[in-house]
Amino acid sequence: MPELRICIVGCGRAGMIHARHFHSVVPGAGVVALADPVPETLAAAAREMPAAAAFADYRQAIAAKGVDAVVIATPTVFHKDIVLAAAAAGKHVFCEKPMALNVPDCEAMIRAADAAGIVFQIGFMRRFDAGFQRARELLDSGDLGRVMIIKSTGRGPGGPGPWMWDLAKSNGIIAEVNSHDIDSLLWMTGSRPTRVYAEAHNFKMTEARTQFPDFYDNVVATFRFENDAIGVVDGTCPAGYGYDARMEILCEKGVIFIGSAKQHGVELITIEGEVRGRAVPSWRTLFRDAYLAEARDFVECAATGRAPRVTSRDGLLAVAGVVAVNESIRTGQPVTL
Ligand SMILES: NC(=O)c1ccc[n+]([C@@H]2O[C@H](COP(=O)([O-])OP(=O)(O)OC[C@H]3O[C@@H](n4cnc5c(N)ncnc54)[C@H](O)[C@@H]3O)[C@@H](O)[C@H]2O)c1
Repeated sequence: MPELRICIVGCGRAGMIHARHFHSVVPGAGVVALADPVPETLAAAAREMPAAAAFADYRQAIAAKGVDAVVIATPTVFHKDIVLAAAAAGKHVFCEKPMALNVPDCEAMIRAADAAGIVFQIGFMRRFDAGFQRARELLDSGDLGRVMIIKSTGRGPGGPGPWMWDLAKSNGIIAEVNSHDIDSLLWMTGSRPTRVYAEAHNFKMTEARTQFPDFYDNVVATFRFENDAIGVVDGTCPAGYGYDARMEILCEKGVIFIGSAKQHGVELITIEGEVRGRAVPSWRTLFRDAYLAEARDFVECAATGRAPRVTSRDGLLAVAGVVAVNESIRTGQPVTL
């Protein structure tokens, strides 16, 4: 299999997870170009991958010699333009979630990728996690009957970075943290929401509130699905105590629990009756294997032309959910989809 030569656009937290995987872990791939407008960030990435060409401008990086595929891990507001540029150049695309800020942008990205005939995968890595996959298999078996109530909790450990404070440029934590939860609801129910209602409040992020009065750091959203399932997403950022990603799927004939806020799912009770354990510190550790599996899958899709397991259509549906949640928060009313 010829090596898939990758250009990383955005060398921050998520970008460097992908870069390291493609650089030295995933067979059949290599990093040949890096792009980031912040000189120190670009220099740090280039020190790790000295053989890759480094660019401040992503357009030059995409056009660099030998690039076959583009991995996009910039703030969400830039995703659309970078995908359009990569598609115009005929490069395969792995784009981090959330796919874009709104549904029309997602549609434009899908049209461009379809016209170019490229692989276009979205970074919902939970779909590659063993626990989430097992839950999907249990639902597929039909033994549990219909999904009745489905809940997903997504709480980030630290406060959202400043680029996430302006809802107009990021859609806030429902997009940055909880679009994973919305995607999980869509995937596990296999259905579409017909009505969304949400409540939100800013408890902790006073510095964000000063600049952006509509910013919130806690959100609960309810979803009514076409197949009658009722969904709940609760999100917090910063949670402070650790990274907390859990799901509960109540079916007619059983209930599925996925995940734990306890590291490795372990809790100790001592002979003195004291309960001890450690919290999961980060999404990087909890979903380490899932990030790797999604990277391997992207390389396989590019090599074989197979459709990705997480498609741009999945990305669009999650963005539609995000937009509906924010509209409900803004208007105080349920949103019909
Ligand atoms: N799948 C996941 O679990 C996961 C986890 C974290 C972040 N993400 C997603 O990854 C994306 C980036 O998030 P992050 O936390 O890594 O952010 P970050 O701020 O750590 O990194 C973003 C990087 O993009 C760079 N950048 C900004 N504009 C750019 C441009 N025009 N061209 C190239 N680079 C540019 C910034 O300088 C920065 O280095 C977001 O879409 C986020 O939602 C996904």
